[in-house]
Amino acid sequence: MSGWTLYERDGEAVSALQKLRFFPLAVTGGEGCRLIDDRGRRLLDLSAAWGAASLGYGHPAIRRAVEAALHSQAGASILSSTSLQAVTLAERLLEIVPGGGDRRVWLGHSGSDANETVARAVIAATGRRHILAFSGAYHGGTQGSMAISGHSAQEGAAKFEGLTLVPYPDPYRPYQGDPSGGALLARIEILLETDCPGEEVAAFFLEPIQADGGLIVPPAGFFERLAGICARYGILTVCDEVKVGLARPGSLHAFEREGFLPDILVLGKGLGGGLPISAVIGPARILDFAPAFSMQTLHGNPVCAAAALAVLETIESDGLVSRAVEVGAYLRELLADARDRLPVIGDVRGRGLAIGVELVLDDAKTPAADLARKTVYRAWELGAVFYYVGMRSNVLELTPPLTLSRAEAREGADILMQAIEDALAGKVPDSAVAPFAGW
Ligand SMILES: Cc1ncc(COP(=O)(O)O)c(C=O)c1O
Repeated sequence: MSGWTLYERDGEAVSALQKLRFFPLAVTGGEGCRLIDDRGRRLLDLSAAWGAASLGYGHPAIRRAVEAALHSQAGASILSSTSLQAVTLAERLLEIVPGGGDRRVWLGHSGSDANETVARAVIAATGRRHILAFSGAYHGGTQGSMAISGHSAQEGAAKFEGLTLVPYPDPYRPYQGDPSGGALLARIEILLETDCPGEEVAAFFLEPIQADGGLIVPPAGFFERLAGICARYGILTVCDEVKVGLARPGSLHAFEREGFLPDILVLGKGLGGGLPISAVIGPARILDFAPAFSMQTLHGNPVCAAAALAVLETIESDGLVSRAVEVGAYLRELLADARDRLPVIGDVRGRGLAIGVELVLDDAKTPAADLARKTVYRAWELGAVFYYVGMRSNVLELTPPLTLSRAEAREGADILMQAIEDALAGKVPDSAVAPFAGW
């Protein structure tokens, strides 16, 4: 294989089943908000590996925690023993996630296994056979999490037979022309009275900001009202904050900005700061429903639990919630200001450091998917990494490390705008992006 580039070796050795590639990025290292590629370039990472690298790369707090956990390793699993790291993490999560009653924490590897576990557990524990979720929702890539998702990228996946999908409240493309979400809530109420009887619905899965569906911020008060409807029927609200939780939205939890308290909270990605760990926080009657009901050998392992504890500590000690508010507002402002110059920027939205830039061709909001594809490619050439999301593949998604500085935000915004201009000017040939399927 000598003489081959790293990316070429990857093509010959690593399965395509798990590739969602947008450009030939080959990484050999990373530091702070920078990824170092195989040519020695220091790319500004405005994705943070889809939000997972919440503290950036090689953060000293995570390094110290992982090293200490490995120094005298408290086992490798919590299936048949417990560990200080796993218990402390669970206790800490119970402290920082508001909620009452007898609650427990389930620890997993990923957003996918966490959502799948919740879907199975709510059905089994309540005896109710239906689940509600939103079109555009991406709750994971395992069979059980795909079965309750509504993203177009998973069109071929088998759905849970009791699943009903409803449109997500999107103020930019409102349901029945009502940006307040009122018409949508009325439809949900009718659904619960008719085809999907509320008394038979175990849970409503929701994202307080719909991430892969297009980084959509719901209208104010929508989820508060939805939670009220769910409470009337005893439907559990399951809040999937895998991508947008833990300081990223400019509050510790995204639901805090929506004025409701979910029954069950799902965390992942940024919780481990780049190491695989997820968590579900919810009522004991669901999460203690049965032993050995949802487990994988390395769940709750002490190394990942230690990393998660370090992430939570750093969010607090370094004031990363207020930093997300401040740097996020600055970044959104820079991008929104570019709209006069670049009318293809149809919408700039988000909360904190979860930001979406929707690209459109005209006033009719025709999605500019080809432009999005070429923009992310060009940005990579210019030195920044981010991807696009959305049911129409036309929303640039920015979920940078929470440690992003104002100077880095400025640099990233400049590259993003230059990339759009260059893509519009035809500097990215079709042949360059053709090998990358994206989604
Ligand atoms: C909201 C949300 N939930 C769940 C998942 C699945 O997480 P993972 O890929 O870590 O399993 C994702 C991944 O993009 C996500 O954005």
